[in-house]
Amino acid sequence: MRLISKAHRSHEKSRTIVTTMDNVKTVLEQSFKCVRVPPAKHVPNLEEDARNGLLSQPRSLPPKYFYDDHGSKLFEKICQTSEYYPTRTEDLILKQHAQDIIQSTLPSKIFELGSGSSTKTRHLLDACSETAHFPSYTAFDISESALLSGGTTLSTYYDWLEIDLLLGDYEAGFKNIPNYNESKLVLFLGSTIGNFEKPHAIGFLSDLRANMSARDRLLVGFDRVKDRQILNAAYNDKGGITAAFNLNVLNVLNNQLGANFDSNKFRHSAGYHMEKEQVEMHLISICAQQVKFDTLGTSIEIASGERIRTEISRKFTAKSVVDLLGAGGFTVERDFASANGYFSLVLAQPI
Ligand code: SAH
Ligand code: TRP
Repeated sequence: MRLISKAHRSHEKSRTIVTTMDNVKTVLEQSFKCVRVPPAKHVPNLEEDARNGLLSQPRSLPPKYFYDDHGSKLFEKICQTSEYYPTRTEDLILKQHAQDIIQSTLPSKIFELGSGSSTKTRHLLDACSETAHFPSYTAFDISESALLSGGTTLSTYYDWLEIDLLLGDYEAGFKNIPNYNESKLVLFLGSTIGNFEKPHAIGFLSDLRANMSARDRLLVGFDRVKDRQILNAAYNDKGGITAAFNLNVLNVLNNQLGANFDSNKFRHSAGYHMEKEQVEMHLISICAQQVKFDTLGTSIEIASGERIRTEISRKFTAKSVVDLLGAGGFTVERDFASANGYFSLVLAQPI
C-alpha cells in the first residue's frame, strides 16, 4: 500500500511540474507544509535578551539571532570555506555510515533540529532510497528562509518524501510539536549542541529526551578538541565570511530593535580557549561610541576595545560526549568518528 501511494505521489508530482517557473514554484510549495510552533515555555525574546545581555557588562547575546535570512545565507558560505572543516568532515561521516545508520534504526520519521539547508541529511535520505525504506521528514528551525529552501531542495530530490517544516525556537521546548506516534531518528548536526553552555545543553537534551520514546534514537554531531591553529582558522576564514556572519547580528539588532549600530565600528574576533575547551566569538568595539535602541528607549556607551560575546562553540572529547549525553538522559550506542578524529557523529539511545 505504502509503496503504491508513494509511487502515485511521485507520478503526480512529475506530471504537475510543467512549463513556467511559477508553476514549478506552486507545485513545490504545495509539496510540504510549513507551520509555526508556539513556544511551550517562556524563552526571552530579542528585546529581553538585549536588555539582559547588552545593557550591562560583560555584554553578550544568544547565538540564535545570527540566523536572519542574510545570516542563514552567510552560514551556508561559511560551510563551504576551506578553513571550516566541520561541515565537510561530518558530511563524509554521514556519507560513509548512512546505510548502517538507517538499517540499524529503521525510523518511520527523520526529525531534524536546526536543519538549516538540510544538505547533509541527503546522505541519510539517499540511503533510504537505496534500501527502499521510506520515512517521513520533519525539519525544525528558527530560520524560515533556511527551512523553505531546504524543504524545496529535498522535495525536488526525493519524490517519495513527505516533508513537514516546523518554524520555531527549539529552546522553547518540544511539547507543542505535533505528536508523531512513530519511531523517530532525531538529528542534531553541525555541532550546534556546542553552542550551548553545558547546563543549557543538559537542559536541552533532557527536554528532548522527555519527548522521545525508548525506541527513538538521537544522532548528534560533536566537534572534537584539536590543535588550536585548526580551530582558530575555522572561525577566522581568510575570506572574512565568518566575520561578516558575526557582524550581521548588529543588523538584526538595528532592524528589530531600532538600534543604530555601525558595523564598521566593530571587528570580529574568535579564538580557542584551551582550558575551557571552547571557541569564543566576540564583536570588539574599535572606538568609543554610543548606540541607541529605539525599541528599548535607551542607549549605551561602549568603550574602545569593549567586547560583546556573540557565540561559544564548545569542543568535545570522547569522554565529555559520553558525560554530556549521560547527563541529558542518553547513552552512546555508536560513535562514528572521522579518521582524523576532528569530528564525531554519535548515535544515542534514550536511557
Ligand atoms: N544542521 C545544519 C545547520 C547548522 S547551523 C548543519 O549542520 O550545517 C544551526 C541551525 O540551527 C541554523 O539553521 C539555525 O537557523 C538553527 N537554529 C539556531 N538556533 C535555533 C533555535 N533556537 N531554534 C531553532 N533553530 C535554531
Ligand atoms: N555550530 C557551528 C559551530 O559552532 C556554528 C558556527 C560556525 C558559528 N561558525 C560560526 C557561529 C561563526 C558563529 C560564528 O561551529
